[in-house]
Amino acid sequence: MTTLRKETPMRHGKRVGVWLAGARGSVATTVIAGAAALGGGLAPPVGCVTERPGLRELPLPAFDALVFGGHDIVGTPLPKRAEALAEAGVLPGRLLRLVAGELEAADRDVVTAAGPALDGEAAPQAVLAAELAADITAFRKRHDLETVVVVNLSSTEEVPADREEFHTLDGLRRALETEPAVLPASALYAYAAFTAGCSFVDFTPSTGARLPALRELAEQRGLPYTGRDGKTGETLVKSALAPMFVHRALRVRSWSGTNLLGGGDGATLERPEAALSKTESKTRVLDEILGDGVEGTVHIDNVPALGEWKTAWDHISFEGFLGVPMTMQFTWQGCDSALAAPLVLDLVRLMALAVEAGDSGPQEQFGFFFKDPEGSADPSLDAQYRLLVDWAGRVSSP
Ligand SMILES: NC(=O)c1ccc[n+]([C@@H]2O[C@H](COP(=O)([O-])OP(=O)(O)OC[C@H]3O[C@@H](n4cnc5c(N)ncnc54)[C@H](O)[C@@H]3O)[C@@H](O)[C@H]2O)c1
Repeated sequence: MTTLRKETPMRHGKRVGVWLAGARGSVATTVIAGAAALGGGLAPPVGCVTERPGLRELPLPAFDALVFGGHDIVGTPLPKRAEALAEAGVLPGRLLRLVAGELEAADRDVVTAAGPALDGEAAPQAVLAAELAADITAFRKRHDLETVVVVNLSSTEEVPADREEFHTLDGLRRALETEPAVLPASALYAYAAFTAGCSFVDFTPSTGARLPALRELAEQRGLPYTGRDGKTGETLVKSALAPMFVHRALRVRSWSGTNLLGGGDGATLERPEAALSKTESKTRVLDEILGDGVEGTVHIDNVPALGEWKTAWDHISFEGFLGVPMTMQFTWQGCDSALAAPLVLDLVRLMALAVEAGDSGPQEQFGFFFKDPEGSADPSLDAQYRLLVDWAGRVSSP
């Protein structure tokens, strides 16, 4: 977090671009349809943290001031994706017709990127990075946008092996100029975002901006970024519940979680390499709140029959007075994209404000939204919320 400028002019009325990597996925489609519904007054902003007292007074961009575009490797148009989500019960069917115009407009701004190129082809990766940045810049000019927030909503990647070149911007640039597959796609999007002068949000557990070389680039350009892995279900409950055991002086002995997922995310996470980045970000919160020595692991299973719904079942064993053993269990059943989409909208609105306030580098105050946030702030949900509201107070005070 950096020092905030004293005066923040009102943003209302200014249009903010939202460039989504993975623009035709379930979360992205729900984000675009949701913004259209909220912007048109067709639905109340349930689930939007930025509409709570203490935040809604901020000079945030209005929902109908958000302009969407992005990259995806698939060509299925957004209205078709929205139809499938309506059939699955994620989007109310009556909304489809009402937001069709906004979905079609956004789809015209989605560039279908060649998938294999992101994994490496003959040209050095700097060429591809420049193309991605040029797409974002063209979008900004086309719509005459005040600022563009780039959000990674693409499929979860595996954790890449560390390379010396990731540690300095000079080293990274040299590698990009000569090699075809240096960065994973999520980090290439972060690189392209910063190169195009845009802030970056990583809603996935992938690498994103979390490399020293990319932090250097963001700070050099004076751009803020945040991530990673949106906290929408099991980990959200954990970050609220684990502090209760600590404050009540109860000793947690084990905490095991099983997650059943369907949809695109479930299919991606079926690959153990991709699931590793997710399970790593999911375990961080308990380690930090409860300390080492708590047994138990997190499992993720792909269950296609669940579609867009996910179930998390957690079993907690703990010890009370004089060592008496006790147990708690909870089951969380949520609609993945309906949980994620309002948080993506919150992050876009807050990030636009951070840009205006002159913030740069990692944004610790947005840790509330993530499983694996930047920095070392207290990971309990209540402390994270206070950090966010305190920042809001500072940014809006004259
Ligand atoms: N839904 C939630 O509650 C939640 C919470 C935290 C994180 N996430 C993360 O959000 C991401 C999106 O989830 P989803 O349910 O929409 O998944 P999805 O599979 O429906 O969508 C992912 C989209 O990314 C696209 N894509 C894949 N590789 C790409 C690339 N290299 N460049 C551009 N696009 C690419 C795919 O074609 C697809 O359209 C996942 O990484 C997921 O882990 C979701």
